[in-house]
Amino acid sequence: TERTLVLVKPDGVRRGLVGEVLRRIETKGYTLAAVQLLTASDDLLAAHYAEHEGKPFYGPLVEFMKSGPVVAVVAEGQGVIPGFRSLAGATDPTAAAPGTIRGDLGRDWGLKVQQNLVHGSDSVESAEREIGLWFPGL
Ligand code: GTP
Ligand code: MG
Repeated sequence: TERTLVLVKPDGVRRGLVGEVLRRIETKGYTLAAVQLLTASDDLLAAHYAEHEGKPFYGPLVEFMKSGPVVAVVAEGQGVIPGFRSLAGATDPTAAAPGTIRGDLGRDWGLKVQQNLVHGSDSVESAEREIGLWFPGL
């Protein structure tokens, strides 16, 4: 079955939204295959965000992602990769539609685009690469 990597980012964990994000994944009909709370290392984040290295937001993004624990999740189900991205909504929470995680739950004051609560893999290749990074052996 198709699977994707979801991260509840440090803002989501700090705001107590882990259960809400997992609830939306489960009530949509996807299955949780793995869940882990951890504080990401520099090496893990460098590998995870390799495609963004050199972009202006890369440094602040990595610092933000290290600012507290994240919840890493493997979710499974038919179409779960685009399906979770649809649940998450647009990257910028200000632009994200109501009904989506980012659109409904917003973000911290501080108003940085990186504080958008969740990550979801964007393709089969990314999903398998990212699951290997966050859940070695899965
Ligand atoms: P993810 O599911 O987190 O990968 O979001 P995405 O696929 O919608 O966005 P993308 O992969 O392009 O960027 C990864 C993350 O970098 C985003 O989720 C944001 O946290 C952050 N980000 C992307 N673009 C910007 C930007 O222009 N400014 C800032 N500050 N952060 C950004
Ligand atoms: Mg992305």
